[in-house]
Amino acid sequence: MTHPCTLVIFGATGNLAGIKLLPALYHLEAAGRLPEGLKILGFGRRDWSDEEWRNRVTEQLRPRVRDSFSAEVGARLCTRLHFQPGDIADPDAFTRLAERLSSGGLPEQAIFYLAVSPHQYVEIGNRLGEVGLARRQPGCPRLVVEKPFGFDLESARLLDLALHRHFDESQIFRIDHYLGKSTVQNVLVFRFANLMLEPLWNRNYIDHVQITHAETQGIGGRAGYYDGVGALRDMLQSHLLQMLTLVAMEPPASLDAESLRDEKVKVLRSVRPIARAAVHAQAVRAQYAPGEVKGAKAAGYLQEEGVAPGSVTETFAAMKLYIDNWRWRNVPFYLRTGKRMKESGSMISIRFKHPPQQLFRETPIEQLPPNWVLLSIQPQDCLRIELQVKQPGLEMRTQTTCLDAGYCSLQDVGIDAYEALLLDVLEGDHSLFLRYDEVEWAWRLVDPVLQVWATERDFIRAYPAGSWGPAEAERLFDRDDQYWRNSLDG
Ligand code: BG6
Repeated sequence: MTHPCTLVIFGATGNLAGIKLLPALYHLEAAGRLPEGLKILGFGRRDWSDEEWRNRVTEQLRPRVRDSFSAEVGARLCTRLHFQPGDIADPDAFTRLAERLSSGGLPEQAIFYLAVSPHQYVEIGNRLGEVGLARRQPGCPRLVVEKPFGFDLESARLLDLALHRHFDESQIFRIDHYLGKSTVQNVLVFRFANLMLEPLWNRNYIDHVQITHAETQGIGGRAGYYDGVGALRDMLQSHLLQMLTLVAMEPPASLDAESLRDEKVKVLRSVRPIARAAVHAQAVRAQYAPGEVKGAKAAGYLQEEGVAPGSVTETFAAMKLYIDNWRWRNVPFYLRTGKRMKESGSMISIRFKHPPQQLFRETPIEQLPPNWVLLSIQPQDCLRIELQVKQPGLEMRTQTTCLDAGYCSLQDVGIDAYEALLLDVLEGDHSLFLRYDEVEWAWRLVDPVLQVWATERDFIRAYPAGSWGPAEAERLFDRDDQYWRNSLDG
């Protein structure tokens, strides 16, 4: 924003604000990236004064910031912090908010960040509209909406209609925090800044693509949100499909937000719809049972606090998708995510085809492993290409060697995705935020699977905590020589 503005955080005393937003604002403050005149107004039910909130935030930040907490940066951030007590269910609280924003004490231009439970989005949108805080000027004020955007296709449509009652698309920023991760952005740089890859990036050379997100943690204290939502909605519909669009999209006309998002939507629209009869062949779900993760005993999902007895919510979901366009026709994209898995990590693995001629048939080389391109998003930020080379010695034997891009070994600067995303909201750049049609097409893809699973309430497969998920996930593969890549090393 060119004018000073107020960032209003709904849910200022909640988890997301404490764990992600305030630390990100602190780091942006430390880096001198917060605009002059920016004020941050926490909105929450506690009856706190500005001073009380400042003290709480300082205490919260101490253990959460990178390196050691700087009192000077903390003090600078505190001069921006203000608190507005109020209950979202109380219309008068919004009248008071409007009065505060027009009283001259804080900049009137506002960004509203919904760091609250998704069932409160519509109510907040409406109340802001009713008290005149959604007044439409181009791109202003802004409304930042966290995932999940809807629970399925139908609810996403209703939510969108409801928000558009008072806000237009240029005002809405839908967050998918994976787009703020640097390696995810690196997918675009890797593909479109390196000419040598483009001729290979298609069905003629690529055998299949895998996108995996695995976590060793269980659901922690999040049963209230997670139970009944499950892995397909929580991770696959959003983060994994976003990564798929970046791997598969055509080069955009430019890097502006609309060109980029047009290309991503084209990918989602080209995905072959999954017929209900094909759901079992193309999707697998499972739930973690008791097991052992990294040497420690781990409870099963059903034993987690707050999970409904007999719940069939999936904590593991895998899917096979095909993109029916010239570039990708018949190349399978395998997507997989799970909690309480053997290791934590997110990786895009691209397997190339075998060379067309078995030139080494008459030598001791029995079977040449194919080339892989591995884009590791976390824990390492890394790019690796696996190639075959001759082993030293008299025999004609090969071994796999790796080309690691230099940044694998660079010190991790550890910038959190929310820092990048908050800065973009402040600058009004929509590139890393979801346009509604992206969300809608992503729901369309997973909706048939959700519908079939919703009718199967009696049984869900189990996998032991600390494993790589259920063996059935293997059956998604088109051929016997395909297998899940679990990490950079295998
Ligand atoms: C969130 C999901 O969107 O992403 C969580 O709701 C998941 O269930 C998290 O754990 C993973 O994000 P990250 O950045 O830790 O990989």
